[in-house]
Amino acid sequence: MMTPTRRSFLAGSAAAALGSLKPAPLFAADTPAGSIPAEEWRSIWTAPADELDLDGLAVHGRWPADLALTLYRNGPALHTMGGYRYRHWFDGDGMIRAWTIGPLGARLRTRLIRTAKLTAEQAAGRRLLPAFGSLPPGARADAMADALNPANINALPFAGSLLALWEAGSAYRLDQDTLETLGPVVWGKDMAGLPFSGHPHFDRAGTLWNFGLDYTGRLVVWEVGADGVLRRCKVLNIGYAGLMHDFAVAGRHLLFVMPPLLIDRDRLGRRAFLDALDWRPDAGLRLILVDKADLTVVRQTVVPTRFVFHLNTAWEDADGGVFCDVVTFPDADIVQRDLAAIMDADLPRHPRSKFERLVWSPAGPARLEPSIDVVGVEFPRWAERAEGGGGPDGTGRSVLMHSDTKRASGWFNTLLSVDRERGVLQRWAAPDRVLLEEHLPVGRYVIGTGVDATSGHSFLHLFAADGIADGPIAWVELPVALPVGLHANVRIHQV
Ligand SMILES: [Fe+2]
Repeated sequence: MMTPTRRSFLAGSAAAALGSLKPAPLFAADTPAGSIPAEEWRSIWTAPADELDLDGLAVHGRWPADLALTLYRNGPALHTMGGYRYRHWFDGDGMIRAWTIGPLGARLRTRLIRTAKLTAEQAAGRRLLPAFGSLPPGARADAMADALNPANINALPFAGSLLALWEAGSAYRLDQDTLETLGPVVWGKDMAGLPFSGHPHFDRAGTLWNFGLDYTGRLVVWEVGADGVLRRCKVLNIGYAGLMHDFAVAGRHLLFVMPPLLIDRDRLGRRAFLDALDWRPDAGLRLILVDKADLTVVRQTVVPTRFVFHLNTAWEDADGGVFCDVVTFPDADIVQRDLAAIMDADLPRHPRSKFERLVWSPAGPARLEPSIDVVGVEFPRWAERAEGGGGPDGTGRSVLMHSDTKRASGWFNTLLSVDRERGVLQRWAAPDRVLLEEHLPVGRYVIGTGVDATSGHSFLHLFAADGIADGPIAWVELPVALPVGLHANVRIHQV
């Protein structure tokens, strides 16, 4: 809901409020390590979903004179409605946090995405529909997937619009500037409601590729031109009904990595979606390669079991070998337990995820081998438009978020710069009790946001890509905390 009182108060007082905020907390000497008090931690996950317009925000440090951009981050918000609180982080309704920053100043705008679900529930004043991990009292468990769509995973500026993305239903189109929700995207005739996942990827030509997975084992493959016009949409019956969150473009192919977190059809429609999923480690981690030319499956195999959310850049060699750096978990506890525990202020364990390299030659069995020797990583990002080229051109730096067990945060607290061949190049550890959200490379820089649990405010900061270890070169602080978000992308403005 709009909160005009709070919004107008903040808009009017942002400059004054910021004047009273010391930029020091981000960069002060580290406090002694220790656990974050539960209430402090909980406050991060209960930030209100206020729709804010904060203008005239100060930019501290040295923001580059030739850089102006908007960082759009999407993520779950509005975790509580009508007295009911969701039980899993992924349940909240999507909210865009748009940070517009240039040499002359910064502003922040946040808006909830007016999905069909949110519109109906706000009109009723209570939850009516199941969410990913919650089945609110009285909710219709058998609703169609797109009716449940909270559009809460990713925000992608594309072809003049902003796409707000979930994974089991339609993309929502928003105005890039006002963040007004324009409605669900229907890419073509009879395609309304087909799943369009939260992780589309560009290839070198600027073509946008994506997939969607339905509950019955059908894989929808999407090819959209840089002009936003659909080129092809093909449905492949692959017999995989489970949780697949991401994919990769590897030169001439699309790579799908399917963890054995599988749907039990008997439970589907009677429980929250998460509670209809079974971890079946014996099934292994399934790999499928699809030819971009004709959208057919050209290769399939299985490697020892892992759970996977995110793939990093992928490439292929002249012999048809496919390579991809993948963040892997030993099991699905991260989604089945830990991301629900967060909502109850139960500090998550440090993730046990690794960065592994998938090596898949056409002649031999595929394998996963260590890529970097760091445990507890996620959110791998590289320059999107440099991916998919194959060969040496596919090389480059990535950034990863690391949950360092030596830090007083059970969540991501360290930023890593990683080179495919040389491993970890640089790292920057945030002060204790600062939680970092996903960071991403933008040209010669790396940008990201986070929340300071001690003082209860969100911030954005910018690093030189080759100087991450030196800390942020510029930053913007808010007088409030925003709900912790998921994925972000940038739109570059002319200076
Ligand atoms: Fe994701």
